[in-house]
Amino acid sequence: MANLPPHQKSLIYNTTTSTLSLTTTSPPPSPTSAAEHTIKVHSTAITNGELTWGAFVPWPTLHIPCYDVSGTIHTPAPNTPFTAGQKVYGRIDAAREGAAREYATLLASETALVPEGLGMEEAASVPMSALTAWQALFEHGLLTGDEYTATSVPHVNPATGVVVGGGQAKGKRVLVLGASGGVGLMAVQFAKLAGASFVAGTASSANRSLVESRGADEVIDYKTVTMEEWVGGGGGDDEGKEKKKFDLVFDCAGGKSMLDGWNAVKRDGGVYVSVVPGFREPEGGKPPGVTSKWFVMVSRGSELEAISRFVEKGLVKGCVDSVWKMEEYEEAFAKTASGHARGKVVIKVAED
Ligand SMILES: NC(=O)c1ccc[n+]([C@@H]2O[C@H](COP(=O)([O-])OP(=O)(O)OC[C@H]3O[C@@H](n4cnc5c(N)ncnc54)[C@H](OP(=O)(O)O)[C@@H]3O)[C@@H](O)[C@H]2O)c1
Repeated sequence: MANLPPHQKSLIYNTTTSTLSLTTTSPPPSPTSAAEHTIKVHSTAITNGELTWGAFVPWPTLHIPCYDVSGTIHTPAPNTPFTAGQKVYGRIDAAREGAAREYATLLASETALVPEGLGMEEAASVPMSALTAWQALFEHGLLTGDEYTATSVPHVNPATGVVVGGGQAKGKRVLVLGASGGVGLMAVQFAKLAGASFVAGTASSANRSLVESRGADEVIDYKTVTMEEWVGGGGGDDEGKEKKKFDLVFDCAGGKSMLDGWNAVKRDGGVYVSVVPGFREPEGGKPPGVTSKWFVMVSRGSELEAISRFVEKGLVKGCVDSVWKMEEYEEAFAKTASGHARGKVVIKVAED
C-alpha cells in the first residue's frame, strides 16, 4: 500500500475566529483506533448549520468540516470485511474530523459500499440525509409500528432481491416540513416505501416538481399557505380538520414553519419529530395525546447498507444541488447557509 503524501489539501474551520480557509499543508490523517479506515476522499457534502455544531462536540481549534463522504479505501480497518480499493460512503461522526480533505478516516461501523451504479458525487449526497430521514420516520416516528428493527421496516431481501414490508404504514398520513432539502427529499421517499397512504411535503412552488418526483402525493407551498390554513381549508368542523391532520409530522424546516407544523399533527396518537435546532412546543403546550421528539442522527453503516439496496433498485434517489471544487468552498458553504439548496451541496475533492 502506497504511503500517504506528507501534506494534503484540506479545509480548516477555525473555531476561535469562526472562519474557514483552505490549506495545502495539512498532515495526512492518522487513524486513532483500529476501527477506522483511511479513505481517499472523492467527494464530501455540506450540512446546513454544521459549523455551529462545535457548541455540542469537542472540536479542536482547527477542525476539518463536512461529514458526508464518498471515496476509496486506502487502508482498511483490520479485522473488518472491508478491503483496500473498495468504493465506500458514509457519514462521519461530527465529533471527529471531517472529510473536506484528500484523505480522511471513517469508522468501519459508519461505512457502507457505494451502491452499484451510483456516481461518487451523488453518493456523497446520501448518508447524512438518508440516515436522518430513516431514523426520524422509523426509529423515532415509529411509522411502521412500535418495534424498530432491521426487518420491522421496509427492506430488500438479500436472497431474492424482493422488497419486503412495504405496507406497514398503510393508512398513515405523513407530512414533511422542508421537503426539498436533503433530509426532506429522503423522508418523502421512505414514507412512500413504507406504504404511507398520503405523503405531503412543504416546499416553494419552484421545488414542487422535485418533491413530486420523489413520490409526494401533495406539495404544499409554504410561501402561500400555512399548515393551519391548509388543515382548516374547506371550512371543515373540528372533526373535518382532524381528518386532514397527519399521523406523523417530520420537521426539517424549523422556525415559524416548525411552530405552524403543530397545527397539522393529529391529536391522540400523532407524532411530531424534528431535527432542526430550536425545536419547541407551541404556546399552551402540545395537542393532547401527541408525542414529540428532537434527536441527533447516529451514523450506522448497517442502515446505510439497507438503504443502498433501495438506491440500487432505483427506488431511492439522492439529490445534488450543486458540485464545487475545494477552492470554491466559500460559495459552496454560502449556498448551503442560504437555506435554499435543493438537496445537498457537494464538494468534489478528487478527480474521477
Ligand atoms: N439533528 C440531526 O441529526 C440533523 C441531521 C441532518 C440535518 N439536520 C438539520 O435538518 C435541517 C434540514 O437540513 P437539509 O439538509 O435537509 O436541508 P436545508 O439545506 O436546510 O434545506 C433547504 C431546503 O429547505 C427549503 N425551505 C427553506 N425554508 C423552508 C420552509 N420554511 N418551509 C419549507 N421548506 C423550506 C428550501 O426551499 P426553498 O428554496 O424553496 O425555500 C430548500 O430546498 C437543517 O437545519 C439541518 O441542520 C439535523
